[in-house]
Amino acid sequence: MTEFEQWDIVTGIGLTALGVAAGRALETERPDRLVSDPYADAFLAAADAPVSVPRRLADTEPLSAAARAMWTSMAAYLGVRSLFFDRFLMTATAGGITQVVVAAAGLDARAFRLEWPPGTELFEIDQPRVLEFKDDVLDRLGARPRCGRHVVPIDLRDDWPAALEDAGFDRGRAAVWLAEGLLPFLTAAAERLLFDRVSRLSAPGSRLAAEHLAPSVRAIVGEPEYRAATRQLGVDLVDLWHFDDKEDPCRPLTSAGWDVRTVPAYEVAAAYRRELHGPMGRTVAHSRFLTAER
Ligand SMILES: C[S@@+](CC[C@H](N)C(=O)[O-])C[C@H]1O[C@@H](n2cnc3c(N)ncnc32)[C@H](O)[C@@H]1O
Repeated sequence: MTEFEQWDIVTGIGLTALGVAAGRALETERPDRLVSDPYADAFLAAADAPVSVPRRLADTEPLSAAARAMWTSMAAYLGVRSLFFDRFLMTATAGGITQVVVAAAGLDARAFRLEWPPGTELFEIDQPRVLEFKDDVLDRLGARPRCGRHVVPIDLRDDWPAALEDAGFDRGRAAVWLAEGLLPFLTAAAERLLFDRVSRLSAPGSRLAAEHLAPSVRAIVGEPEYRAATRQLGVDLVDLWHFDDKEDPCRPLTSAGWDVRTVPAYEVAAAYRRELHGPMGRTVAHSRFLTAER
């Protein structure tokens, strides 16, 4: 039994997984889409969310201008983020890494939507009720993963390395790790523990990618209009995100033997010819993508 708070797909942090699935559903509808996630809409249809979560761009029209701007700008950013990490994972597995670990997988459907090399084993870690909801929907759809898929239903502050190894992860072989849309939800201690554990489980040749938000983003998410708009999405990021005492993750990773690189998210967006406006456009200035190799 865990000592940590449990959530499902329509409460607290769990609801943010539904929110990003909505972003991917809206992105999928764009004629200039960067990624296509055919599973996102099924998750939205199945969830009994306490707030109006749009499944289509047209669903944002009745919302307040602020909430509409929040959804559409979030979707535009998620297209960029998803494509960047899709490419990172596909390059790592094409290069011979056969183990993929998605920390805080939420409703990430990469196991189903990407064309993985034969022999790829993908592990999804998230809270039990989040993964239960996801698997119910995927089972009902008859969705088939395009790799070996293993769910690891556990809190990332619990002993997930043991659960991961029980699920078949082999620390003797290189792995590629992803932490997308996760780090702000962890306290400084939990973030440090995550990177320590990932490093301990990473054989030479392993790779890692993470989305990192600088603590300076706090000024924006704390603005009254921004807070009001995110509350209409059912969450208050000021309460859910932690920045106190956080160090730049490049430091512990470099000390643990990782060769770390970072790229600002807006540079990636420019390379993909995607303009980012609206509220998320402003937070993106504080976002960067971190990649590392050991
Ligand atoms: C914004 S969602 C991102 C989900 C997914 N990575 C994506 O981009 O679609 C945040 C996810 O982090 C998960 N999460 C946050 N803290 C966690 C923890 N301590 N243990 C397990 N999962 C956690 C939530 O359950 C949720 O699925």
